Amino acid sequence: MTEADRRRWNSRYRAQKAAMGHNTVALPDRVLVEVTRSLAPGRAVDVACGMGRNALWLARQGWQVDAIDIAREALEELRQAAESRMLDRLFIMEEDLDAWRPAPNTYDFGTMVLFWDPRVLAHLKRAVRPGGLVLVRSLLAPSGQPDVGPHYLRPGELREWFKGWTIRHNLEDEGMAMILAVRPLD
Ligand SMILES: C[S@@+](CC[C@H](N)C(=O)[O-])C[C@H]1O[C@@H](n2cnc3c(N)ncnc32)[C@H](O)[C@@H]1O
Repeated sequence: MTEADRRRWNSRYRAQKAAMGHNTVALPDRVLVEVTRSLAPGRAVDVACGMGRNALWLARQGWQVDAIDIAREALEELRQAAESRMLDRLFIMEEDLDAWRPAPNTYDFGTMVLFWDPRVLAHLKRAVRPGGLVLVRSLLAPSGQPDVGPHYLRPGELREWFKGWTIRHNLEDEGMAMILAVRPLD
């Protein structure tokens, strides 16, 4: 990410906090809630967590969560929310995902919501242990507009990225693509 991107995200979050006030971490992603409800808590990572609605929810369910984002303004909000709930299972990391090199086989569950970068996905897939799960849910390119830019998923693209994994759910509707996949046992 460039310095300009970092500034853009920070000023976006600053404006959001000015408009909505503090302690406004949003509700967790409904698909993430559905798919993790039945899982036994373990170690999780939420990449591009923003204000951390999903990381916070996972930590409240008993997961030990690494929450990673570049935007300090967003992470500050998450830190306050975690402190006020006395959550010591949440590890907040200000980090550029372009340089993120997680240890392999570390997490039981990894998630990337409303953010898409196939290079980051490659690291996320390695960071999850064999038998662990990855959930990706992000914007789908509008049909008939394949050239909308690198931040949109193409129809069928997620399934391609998870070749060799067991696909638990894969859905494309309402402008969103999602996949929940299990890393094969080595
Ligand atoms: C649309 S927000 C998604 C937030 C969160 N996943 C959610 O569902 O609420 C996208 C996030 O990606 C972060 N981001 C973009 N590029 C990044 C990078 N290179 N490294 C770390 N975070 C990045 C932004 O700071 C922003 O918080």
